[in-house]
Amino acid sequence: MTSPRRARPVLEVVDLMTRFHTEQGVVHAVNGVSFSLTEGESMAIVGESGSGKSVTALSIMGLLVRTAGAECRGRALLDGRDLLALRPRELARVRGKEIAMIFQDPVTSLNPVLTVGRQLGEAVLHHAGASRAEARGRSVELLDLVGIPNARGRLSEYPHQFSGGQRQRIMIAMALALGPRVLIADEPTTALDVTIQAQVVELIGSLRQRLGMAVLWITHDLGLVAGLVDTVLVMYAGRIVERAAVRDLFERPLHPYTKGLLQAVPAWNDTRGGRLRTIDGRPPDLRSAPKHCAFAPRCPHALDRCWAERPPLQEADGGRASACWRWRELEGAALAREPRP
Ligand SMILES: Nc1ncnc2c1ncn2[C@@H]1O[C@H](COP(=O)(O)OP(=O)(O)OP(=O)(O)O)[C@@H](O)[C@H]1O
Ligand SMILES: [Mg+2]
Repeated sequence: MTSPRRARPVLEVVDLMTRFHTEQGVVHAVNGVSFSLTEGESMAIVGESGSGKSVTALSIMGLLVRTAGAECRGRALLDGRDLLALRPRELARVRGKEIAMIFQDPVTSLNPVLTVGRQLGEAVLHHAGASRAEARGRSVELLDLVGIPNARGRLSEYPHQFSGGQRQRIMIAMALALGPRVLIADEPTTALDVTIQAQVVELIGSLRQRLGMAVLWITHDLGLVAGLVDTVLVMYAGRIVERAAVRDLFERPLHPYTKGLLQAVPAWNDTRGGRLRTIDGRPPDLRSAPKHCAFAPRCPHALDRCWAERPPLQEADGGRASACWRWRELEGAALAREPRP
């Protein structure tokens, strides 16, 4: 489902760096992430749990300012305006209206003691200066848009009166309330069963096309992104280790970690289904900031150089990039280890 590429970037993230100063030490959650999202583009950030995907999104949205010990550096330019440099009031004006986010956990993101109508209405009123009646009408439209039946009748209900899938749809409606140009969807389906997952993904995809927004999907599920996005960013230990058009990524992954991830996807091109494999070794401890390649301890191809010097994200052909010293020689090679039974 690729859309024609328009060159204009709506969101440009430059050298984003986020750390948490905790009693157990400094957590290096995001370590110099840069990417650019063009108008109407569909892009995904994939990576294992703890790789820094949500922290990247929260940092861009300026949502870590009140988190104790959080330190955010770099730039997140929305149409050239740096979200990380805006004052809280300015940021509040941009958030929702121009850039919105669907959170990983819908249950904690809706307020349980306010009706859905009130919450949606507030999202609309807050920015648009609409009257109460207009806000109500808009709320009904939004619930219709995300496929909640009998929307008008359900405005007076509370979140617990909706199913998990419906709550996730309400979250989407709230994120879309003001017609943002960029939507960040952080694991919008993890809490849902498989059928509803597919519906929610399809819903966001079709809304993207209808409303012309750019969507940044965040997921640990590579299977989900096939057929859904134009571009994939693969994240490991708080860094982007590969960037590629989705088809290239599946056909010719350039980073050993991406190859490992693809082997762990059971059925993206295998209708018979397959055994889910995991990548050997443990995810890195982000409390240390190694000078070497963070994937080296798990990489079957690591050489002395990988332990001596961290590879930067290097541009490859066709707009791709890989943070592996050996991407050229290993192109097309499978992970060297024998697949486990
Ligand atoms: N408020 C915080 N204080 C300290 N460390 C944090 C905080 N929030 C996140 N982290 C750490 O930052 C790292 C990245 O977390 P993040 O939530 O971005 O992972 P993720 O890639 O979204 O994983 P998942 O797929 O499980 O959602 C983790 O090591 C996490 O423990
Ligand atoms: Mg997350």
